[in-house]
Parts: sequence; C-alpha cells; structure tokens
Amino acid sequence: MRPERITLLENKRIILAVTGSIAVYKAVDLASKLTQAGSAVDVIMTEAAQKFVAPITFQSVTGRSVYTHLWQAASGVSLPTHIAHVGLGEGADLMGIIPATANTMAKLAHGLADDLLSVTALAARCPVVIAPAMDGGMYEHTATQANVATLIERGAYLIEPEEGRFASGLVGRGRLPETTTLIGHIRQILGRDGALQGRKVVVTAGGTREAFDPVRFITNHSSGKQGYALAQAALDAGARVTLISTTRTLPVPVGAMLVPVDSTQDMLDAVLAQTQDADALVMAAAVSDFRPATKAEQKIKKSADDSAGLTVTLVRNPDILQTVKARRDATGSPRVVVGFAAESENLLEHAQDKLRRKGLDLIAANDITATDAGFAADTNRVILLDKDGSQEILELMTKAMVSERIIERVALLLG
Ligand code: CTP
Repeated sequence: MRPERITLLENKRIILAVTGSIAVYKAVDLASKLTQAGSAVDVIMTEAAQKFVAPITFQSVTGRSVYTHLWQAASGVSLPTHIAHVGLGEGADLMGIIPATANTMAKLAHGLADDLLSVTALAARCPVVIAPAMDGGMYEHTATQANVATLIERGAYLIEPEEGRFASGLVGRGRLPETTTLIGHIRQILGRDGALQGRKVVVTAGGTREAFDPVRFITNHSSGKQGYALAQAALDAGARVTLISTTRTLPVPVGAMLVPVDSTQDMLDAVLAQTQDADALVMAAAVSDFRPATKAEQKIKKSADDSAGLTVTLVRNPDILQTVKARRDATGSPRVVVGFAAESENLLEHAQDKLRRKGLDLIAANDITATDAGFAADTNRVILLDKDGSQEILELMTKAMVSERIIERVALLLG
C-alpha cells in the first residue's frame, strides 16, 4: 500500500515542460509527486529554465532523461527511434507547461517553433495544460491576456495563477499554485472521459455540529477524510461533484463545488437542494442523531454556585437518508444512494438493517473500534453490502482506494 500512488496517474506519460520562472523550483516537486503517483514524467527545459534549476535535478526526481535541445537529451541520450519533439509528443497523455512564462505563452500563441518546448507543443496531440507564473503585473498585461485567451480558445487548459507575494516583493496575480492544486487540475483533465462523465455526484463529509450557544457545539470524531477522498475519486471518474461538508481544514479537491454546512438541518437542506438534479448521493458524513433542544443567544455563563452543572436537553434530528428515500420513492431521483455504517459491534447485522431501512443501493460498513480504520485514520477496512445481498470485503487500504472501489460500484449501478 503506497499512499502516494494515484490510480488515475498510474502509467500515464506526462510531458512536463518548464520555462524560465523562479517558480520552476515548484515544478521539481510537481515532477517528483507525479512520478511517485505512478506517472512517467518526461521533462523539457527551456534554456532560461536551466538558469534556475539544473537538468540533473529533474532527472533525479523522475528517474528519466531530461530534454533540453531539439535533437538530444541533456544526458546525451536521444530518443531511440525518433527525433525528440515527435517522440515525446507521441503517446503522451498530457503536456503541462508549468510554469509558463509570458515569453513562452507569446511564442505558443503565435505558433513559433524555435526550441524543443515550442516544437513539441505544436506536435503534441494530447491535452495541453498551461500554468502561467510571472512577476510584477506581467500576467495582467493586455498582451499576455490576449495570448492566454488565444491559447484557451485553441483548447489549452489554463491553471490560473494565484495572488500573493512575488520573489520581487511585489504583490499581485502571477504565483504558481502549490503542487496539490496543480495535480488536482491534472487529475481533472485526465479523468474527464471517465466512467462518470456527465454525471453529478453529491458527497457529504465530516461530523455535523449542533450548537447550544454561540461558542459551543456537540459533534463527533469524524475527520471528513473519507468524504473528501470520495469526492476526489468521483472527480477522477469524470463526475461533477458537490461536496457538502462540515470540515473546514481539509483541502477541497480541485473541481469540487463546496457547500459548507454545520448542523444536521443545514446538511439536510443542502442535500435536498443539491440532489434534485444529481445522479448519485454518497452520505459519508457522520450525522448527529440528536441536537440541543434550544440554542442560547448568548454564551452560557457559569453560575456562582460551584457545584451547579449544566443540563442540555437533546432532541432527535431528522434522518437525512430517510428524507431522501421518501423523495426518491416518489421521483426516482437520485438513482443511486450510498450510505455508511460506522459500528462498534454487530457490524454486518446493523449495516444490513440500515441498508434496508434507508432504501440504499450500497452501504459501506466499517468497524470503528479498529485503530487502522474509521475516524481520522488514513486507512479504512470496509465491507460493501448491496441491496441484492452481495458482500465485498475490502482488505485494509487507503481511504483513497476505498473511495475508488465505492465510486466504481456507483458507476456500475448507474450503468
Ligand atoms: N445518516 C443520515 N441522517 C442521520 C443519521 C445518519 O442520513 N440523522 C446517514 C449517515 O450519513 C450514514 C448512514 O445514515 O450514511 C448511517 O449512519 P449511522 O450514524 O451509522 O446510523 P444511524 O442512522 O444513526 O443509526 P444508529 O443510531 O442505529 O447507529
């Protein structure tokens, strides 16, 4: 189990073309993470890029030759049967120009072909991703913007630079996003023809929070990790994803629409609104069954009597899946509904009961007493039960892998 592997990136051929921006140091990390994820990464460096980072750095992290000239790799190894620009483009799944300078984009917009990068970009037939990075307001310049617009119009996929502080000390738009964001965009492009292409999937994540005054709430140990991993897996399969979440600390997968919620009632409202046009709902959230009967307007103060406690009366929350079931019985939508059962005893019995009561197509049952599974862990041990009575026992695996298996089942159920 290698947590850095990403199924979608496994055995993909990615051309990473880097240009002369200080942000090229971030591209080293990107090349490394893509390689660890399972991709074969062929790096092309412009002359200017080599002023910032040496080819050997990329060669070390990718374990492959780095290409610096039209006819030859930096290591002196040329492609065996082709001249480099054709050979590199052939069979590549994606070409990323990351970071892309204003100069490189200007060249590409005009179809110039005077170095390995620009020639390869013209020869490549795979999706081309451009992540501009430049200092001092150059990104906002009309000339740069016109070139960006031309490239997008021709089908390039743009990763917008972020606002922030530049190497020069100036502040503005032009910073290259962090590696996880870059990889999120790359996943979106590679996944777009996946099994859930054209489908909308709604995922809930985290433990609901039930407030009883402006500063205090009742919640549970759910970290939201399984829900976020499910959202990413659905994105990898090409779905449009809405993530209804109580978690504020996990990075939102690139491409997911986040609907932040706190209480069970908020989550219920969001689920009903978001599933109106959805194909599937995956309820990974740990929903609180009870909420305080009242919420104090002001912070509840201790009384002068040191021995006095505080009694909070709890009342039942609505069951979100039961409410969805009622609507689904009438409308047939969403077509697929998946639930979770986190149990501390009689796992299968309780899970089967929930599957039936809540009218689910599939339930992921996990034993929360195991230390390597359930709340907050990065791994999970899950049994998938479906409405036809079949059982699939998944061995211990990362929450990302569990999510892929669940999303595969969702795709199968949708047909
Ligand atoms: N769930 C829900 N609404 C609730 C409680 C739970 O939609 N008010 C969903 C959860 O998101 C999960 C499934 O129902 O997908 C099972 O949740 P769980 O907490 O395990 O079960 P409960 O219905 O609360 O049953 P019990 O109290 O018997 O464990």
